[in-house]
Amino acid sequence: MKILVTGGAGFIGSHTLVELNAAGHETVVIDNLSNSNRKSLERVAELTGKEIPFYEVDIRDREGLNRVMEAHHFDACIHFAGFKAVGESVEKPWEYYENNISGTLTLLDVMRQHGCKNIIFSSSSTVYGNPAIIPISEECPKGHCTNPYGQTKSMLEEIMMDMQKADKEWNIVLLRYFNPIGAHPSGRIGEYPNGIPNNLMPYVTQVAVGKRTELGVFGNDYPTHDGTGVRDYIHVVDLARGHVAALKAIERKCGIAIYNLGTGQGYSVLDVVTTFEKVNGIKIPYSIKPRRAGDIATCYSDPSKAEKELGWKAQYGLEEMCRDSWNWQKNNPEGY
Ligand code: NAD
Ligand code: UD1
Repeated sequence: MKILVTGGAGFIGSHTLVELNAAGHETVVIDNLSNSNRKSLERVAELTGKEIPFYEVDIRDREGLNRVMEAHHFDACIHFAGFKAVGESVEKPWEYYENNISGTLTLLDVMRQHGCKNIIFSSSSTVYGNPAIIPISEECPKGHCTNPYGQTKSMLEEIMMDMQKADKEWNIVLLRYFNPIGAHPSGRIGEYPNGIPNNLMPYVTQVAVGKRTELGVFGNDYPTHDGTGVRDYIHVVDLARGHVAALKAIERKCGIAIYNLGTGQGYSVLDVVTTFEKVNGIKIPYSIKPRRAGDIATCYSDPSKAEKELGWKAQYGLEEMCRDSWNWQKNNPEGY
């Protein structure tokens, strides 16, 4: 298939490009580089042996999108472009709603005008809020999102479901990611957050590389096996392959389809720290800090629907995630 990848220069997008090309698909990227670097695409070209056509276009730029869609006929779009920092979204709600919601609305409109009504959307387990059931299946009702970032994901899911209800030509796959970490095993592509990392694994790798002195563990009084928060970490290469598998749903004209992408395993903050230390032979100093506002105790998926319907199952475990996160960080201490 020929696939438009929005946000393809970013963390998950770049890994997905590698897997799409390995599976024989043709890809074209648009990205405004607001949170990425075009070097990631050079590295993808190195890994795939193919030049990936790239347009520096903002998804809010209707004319720019029209130019790309006039130059190519796409079978589907995989839509990663958007802002994703939870804390920043609380500080800058307008910017988050404008970029994520207006941008997606413009993209959807230009797509339908060009007769491409197949889309895979990056959603998040955050739409479940404080989950009503654990493990979380797709049947679990959506919950209250405590921040504008989560709201944009939840609202965009609703918008796309309404559009599909009104126009059955749309095939829309909503992928709810759990906690993506790791990097390509080559160490050539990975994640490099701006400023102080908010998420656990980038913080751990920055402590390991000596950029930060110690990890703060946000709370050790949760009702979990060691008191620290439990999450479903998933290797970004597995996540990327989940998008290749999701194209099967598009091919069989799924209408609306929702899948969790997780491993189904929950690990605590201290499980991550001790596994990282063991696999990489590096001590991670940490101290216990108060709970972080908005955090929940436990969140992990029931990923069986994706296995049953798409034949997709995560292959990598926490050890590989820790190994590959570190391999990327140590080879690229300043990112790209
Ligand atoms: P990322 O920031 O690395 O990638 C997003 C890309 O989109 C960046 O390259 C950025 O430059 C681009 N972009 C942003 N706004 C744009 C716009 N208006 N026009 C064009 N390009 C734009 O983030 P990521 O971790 O790769 O996440 C990809 C998607 O997955 C996002 O939608 C994110 O919300 C979602 N998601 C991520 C996680 C996670 O933990 N990383 C979890 C759940 C969902
Ligand atoms: C966060 C976002 C979520 C987003 C996801 C992936 C919040 C409330 N949720 O999820 O919307 O989809 O990232 O990008 O921010 N931790 C520490 N010390 C740290 C960092 C994290 O102890 O320095 C703990 C957290 O308290 C949590 C676990 O590590 O228990 C994982 O945190 P994080 O990586 O930020 O992911 P989530 O909070 O699950």
